[in-house]
Amino acid sequence: MARAVPSFVCQACGAAHSRWQGRCEACGEWNTLAEEDAAGAASGVPVAARAKRKGRTFALETLAGESPDAPRLRSGINEIDRVTGGGFVRGSVLLLGGDPGIGKSTLLIQAASALARAGHRAVYISGEEAVAQVRLRAERLGLASAPVELAAETAVEDIVATLSHGATPRLVVIDSIQTMWTDTVESAPGTVTQVRASAQALIRFAKKSGASLILVGHVTKDGQIAGPRVVEHMVDAVLSFEGEGSQQFRILRAVKNRFGPTDEIGVFEMTGGGLREVANPSELFLSERDLGTPGTAVFAGLEGTRPVLVEMQALVAPTALGTPRRAVVGWDPSRLAMVLAVLEAHCGVKLSGHDVYLNIAGGLRIAEPAADLAAAAALVSSLAGAPLPADAVFFGEISLSGAVRPVAQAPARLKEAAKLGFARAYLPETVRADGAAGESGLTLNPVSGLTQLVAEIAARGQGQKAASGKKDTLRPFPHRGG
Ligand code: TYD
Ligand code: MG
Repeated sequence: MARAVPSFVCQACGAAHSRWQGRCEACGEWNTLAEEDAAGAASGVPVAARAKRKGRTFALETLAGESPDAPRLRSGINEIDRVTGGGFVRGSVLLLGGDPGIGKSTLLIQAASALARAGHRAVYISGEEAVAQVRLRAERLGLASAPVELAAETAVEDIVATLSHGATPRLVVIDSIQTMWTDTVESAPGTVTQVRASAQALIRFAKKSGASLILVGHVTKDGQIAGPRVVEHMVDAVLSFEGEGSQQFRILRAVKNRFGPTDEIGVFEMTGGGLREVANPSELFLSERDLGTPGTAVFAGLEGTRPVLVEMQALVAPTALGTPRRAVVGWDPSRLAMVLAVLEAHCGVKLSGHDVYLNIAGGLRIAEPAADLAAAAALVSSLAGAPLPADAVFFGEISLSGAVRPVAQAPARLKEAAKLGFARAYLPETVRADGAAGESGLTLNPVSGLTQLVAEIAARGQGQKAASGKKDTLRPFPHRGG
């Protein structure tokens, strides 16, 4: 058989080119083209066999009909079950992405051990570590006695053959997909072609056998799961495991989930004895608060169905640069820009001569617009040098007009705040009318507009300002509307 015409596939975007070139025309990346069989060897079926195969007719179905709930297997680790939407679905494939060293292997050996101890067949295939290393970790985690079946293998065909033998495993962990290789393609392990072909073969096995498959994927520097995104669309769920290297919190987040929600998070703490579930993340995120310092506000947020309180920290300082700096960690920079613009335009707060830094404590990432009010409070508090009340939480979305708009699930946020000992809440005015909000026992401080909040914080700051004799950077603000 004549060799198929080669084509060159960009390892970053997947575009195919007929000849090699230094730069991919589709995505503009340099040095990303690699040779691949034009036949798309990744499909695993020999070209000759495919050419002979005739089309087969199949029955078309209606939308209405039986749809039993996906059979699930709970891992026994609540934070994982929450994020997956109730456990691992039979025959489904899950990709767990994260930076090297974040704790993916630790999490999965813990999950596999929990399942194995519950009497399910769990197999852990490590392509990165020797069996002895995995054993050592299990010992350290106190899991050495769990009946997990273990192997250090990277050849996909051998793995599939081994797993097809005997009872179907209930859970198979492949750590990591980047180390796997299959005979069907010639590229080196770790290339897009290999990662795609290996994943395809393993996914085929999972779908056929009904085993739940977890693929580990390392994330490259620019935040993409290496084998850039080629695996993401092939799997049923993508979870990402995140955290700040220096901190002990780890957050498991669903990026995509065909069988569950994508807004739930699981919170863990990395300890000497492995990952510990954190049932009440608010306590953890607020554990090291600097009470009485200006520039911090507690945001009553919501992650999926779970209320989470976090501290937003702001630093506003006169700039030495022509263009002042704006730096954000854990929040959307364009939302910060918007809040700053509203403060300038409607509240008379001049920030154009100041550097602005905003940080979410604990390494959490917040996507909710409801954090606007807490961010604004922290910023103004820092600028005015006026600490916010330590027993207050903030939530509310700020509109471009400076009004504070209602947000979802206010009662749940208030309840969580009350549970953690907070006494008052600054919140959108409309929430007060909501009867359920009153049940929390918190003193409600409704805020109709940002001007009102700025005035209140500035008034708190007057005392300190007068005492220190500093120039007042917070100019009197025009009261517009309410
Ligand atoms: P690991 O699971 O190997 O990370 P990944 O598979 O994502 O690359 O975790 C490695 C880090 O976790 C390592 O820096 C040590 C730390 N660790 C602990 O702090 N406690 C433990 O019990 C274990 C097993 C690891
Ligand atoms: Mg690992």
